[in-house]
Amino acid sequence: MKHRDIIDKMTLEEKAAFLSGKNVWQTRDYSRLGLPSIFCSDGPHGIRKQAGAGDHLGLNASLPATCFPTAATVANSWDERLGEELGEALGEEAATQEVNVLLGPGLNMKRSPLCGRNFEYFSEDPYLAGKMAAAYVKGIQSQGVYACPKHFAVNSQELRRMAMNSVLDERTLREIYLTGFEIAVKEGKAKSIMTSYNEINGTYANENKHLLQEILRKEWGFDGIVITDWGASNDHAAGVAAGSNLEMPAPGLDSAREILQAIKEKTLTEEELDACVDGLLDAVLTLSENAKGKKRTFPETAHHDLARRAAEESAVLLKNTDEILPLKAGCKVAVIGDFAVEPRYQGAGSSMVNPTYLETIEKVIGNYDLQVAGINRGYKRTGEADEAMKKEALDLAAAADIVLYCFGLDELSESEGMDRSHMRIPQNQIELLQSIVQVNENVVGLLSAGASIEMPWHYCCKAILHGYLTGQAGASAMLNILTGKVNPSGRLSETYPLRYEDTSAFRHFPSTQRNSEYRESIYIGYRYYDTSKVRVQYPFGYGLSYTTFMYSELKVDADGATFTLTNTGKMDGAEVVQLYVGLPNAIVFRPEKELKGFRKVFLKSGESKEVRIDFDDKTFRYWNVKTNGWEVEEGIYQIMVGASVADIRLEGKLQVSGTTDRYPYNPAKLPYYYTGIVQQISDEEFEELLGHPIPSGKWSGDLGINDAICQMYYAKSGLARVIYKVLTTMKKKSEEKGKPDLNILFIYNMPFRGIAKMTGGMVSMEMVEGMVTVVNGHFLKGMKKIIGGFFRNQKANKAYEAKLAEK
Ligand code: BGC
Repeated sequence: MKHRDIIDKMTLEEKAAFLSGKNVWQTRDYSRLGLPSIFCSDGPHGIRKQAGAGDHLGLNASLPATCFPTAATVANSWDERLGEELGEALGEEAATQEVNVLLGPGLNMKRSPLCGRNFEYFSEDPYLAGKMAAAYVKGIQSQGVYACPKHFAVNSQELRRMAMNSVLDERTLREIYLTGFEIAVKEGKAKSIMTSYNEINGTYANENKHLLQEILRKEWGFDGIVITDWGASNDHAAGVAAGSNLEMPAPGLDSAREILQAIKEKTLTEEELDACVDGLLDAVLTLSENAKGKKRTFPETAHHDLARRAAEESAVLLKNTDEILPLKAGCKVAVIGDFAVEPRYQGAGSSMVNPTYLETIEKVIGNYDLQVAGINRGYKRTGEADEAMKKEALDLAAAADIVLYCFGLDELSESEGMDRSHMRIPQNQIELLQSIVQVNENVVGLLSAGASIEMPWHYCCKAILHGYLTGQAGASAMLNILTGKVNPSGRLSETYPLRYEDTSAFRHFPSTQRNSEYRESIYIGYRYYDTSKVRVQYPFGYGLSYTTFMYSELKVDADGATFTLTNTGKMDGAEVVQLYVGLPNAIVFRPEKELKGFRKVFLKSGESKEVRIDFDDKTFRYWNVKTNGWEVEEGIYQIMVGASVADIRLEGKLQVSGTTDRYPYNPAKLPYYYTGIVQQISDEEFEELLGHPIPSGKWSGDLGINDAICQMYYAKSGLARVIYKVLTTMKKKSEEKGKPDLNILFIYNMPFRGIAKMTGGMVSMEMVEGMVTVVNGHFLKGMKKIIGGFFRNQKANKAYEAKLAEK
């Protein structure tokens, strides 16, 4: 224990209250002990420090900060150095705004393209996600600010995110959903981590001892603080017992009383409480010391330029027929699309940044050697057809050499708090595109979207440049690529399937009952398409360049692979070289190939370089559920180097010895896992993989405090069903307006207990129980609890506050 001296001076009440926030963003301060508050802020791609009223949904204004491209975008750069530079800039801005903990990066796995927060996450591959996250963490923490990788763990759906249970086998947990966090913690040395809202195999992440103690602290050696997601604490005492240091945001003193009660009842020991207090004290003291003497301004122009460079390095050129790109100097361009005027450059929710400056194509295109024939919005962002607008756009398109069509996903399509219901972009945008190509076949599509989409229309574009969500300097970044000033070097960090129906979790995402069954196991993203030979639109790792690269002379030794890369084209540029590993005829089922290393290599035209990619502890390992450890299967491994998972250029072999002869599976009982065809895994086969029966997630009987408010359609009380209907109507209306109402979405998906956890002490858990009693049809009994509970809560809060003030 580092801070025994301070802990000895603290009363039990002070210690219990210390472990939850004093308001939306800050920890409690104790002046008599010389303990200041620390300030937490989102977020992953720009600081969202709220100087005024705080909320965790991105609703109220925040101080201006640089809006960098989102994680989904930057992952396409495959450039760890860039990730670290972005982290440094984020950390610097955080420090100037007196933010001590930056709530990011987000690195949940893209299990399905439909997760509404995919734009905030790096990849469908844990290795790439982990490496990029570790880079951000290093950069952020170099500025004396703690990074807080999130949301730990298995949080891949937004629907009822606070009231759902992820059911999966240990191997899938380890190999897919934890490996990224492991890298962020071990290599990035993250000093804090945020637990997710959901349960994992029946235990809330924040109370999960397997996750927080056995894996995070013991196996990975994490020595930082565990912070709950905002409202993710269920049973605070159980959280503390599992080693969770800080419940956020401000649950009031009811949570502190839960701790006192647990100590009294001996379900929590004072040693366990002290251990959590000690960890948080260390963070508070270190961070407040780090914050001393920091500047109050940051270099806005330099950070804007960095945001541009990040967008340039991350944009992916998907198609370039007839070498229509780069655009010829002086050519006549018609700019069509609402996004040219009002760009879609970041996502919605807690990560929403108030940019210091926002570029648009309309504003910056005049700086390029192009003849602009006109700029026209073309379609309505909200999806309605508009014939007059369409006609104007077509006339403009007909009069130009090239049409630059700016389109993609609108704000409503992807947001925190909701999942997408399909992978299409709005139909009115596609109808316009299909009409444009009738009058001018030289269409260059400029896409903005934070996640994978279906592209059945892709024949309409001669070229497609996908900028993802580019951040505030995206317009000039895209024009720099379109005009050839910058050679595109982004490669997809996620697969673009042909149709949503082709995705591996398609029958189980999002779960409609409490349990989300991860039946597809380790086969997410390319691990599925590549193994079971499903055709895709664009594979993982794919992207074009204005130059060409040749791979040659692969040499494989026990420690890594070496090969030569040559820029054989006419332009300087960077290539992302990818190392995949496979084991044909493996005894333990596994994907055909898995990413185990990568490098981004810049070469001048005609230049050659020898490239080395070292193996590491993850290259050959798999999680063995029988030995309960990482093992290596003996065999002759294929070592593959290529430009994407589907474009392997060099292949070598390596004999590797095994670490155990205790194999975990009986292939006869897991036939589909052995083929990788996992869309329709039977109950029996899934149970064999889990090693136990599938838990029942079906709702039955009365609603409980952990059921979501949107489940009130089951309520016995007519009043509760009316409230459900009103909320549903409000949600629909906001969707029709084209902007998701995050407040309504949050309430809709929140469990009843959230009413106590999110109201700063106004509502106690006893009152919430009363509310649920009302919902279940016992009006009088419930009201008695609510009213009685209200007065009891007020009295208990006052008594507690008096105790805290006593000293
Ligand atoms: C989000 C977190 C975020 C927190 C604070 C939550 O709703 O899930 O990612 O950091 O709010 O804004």
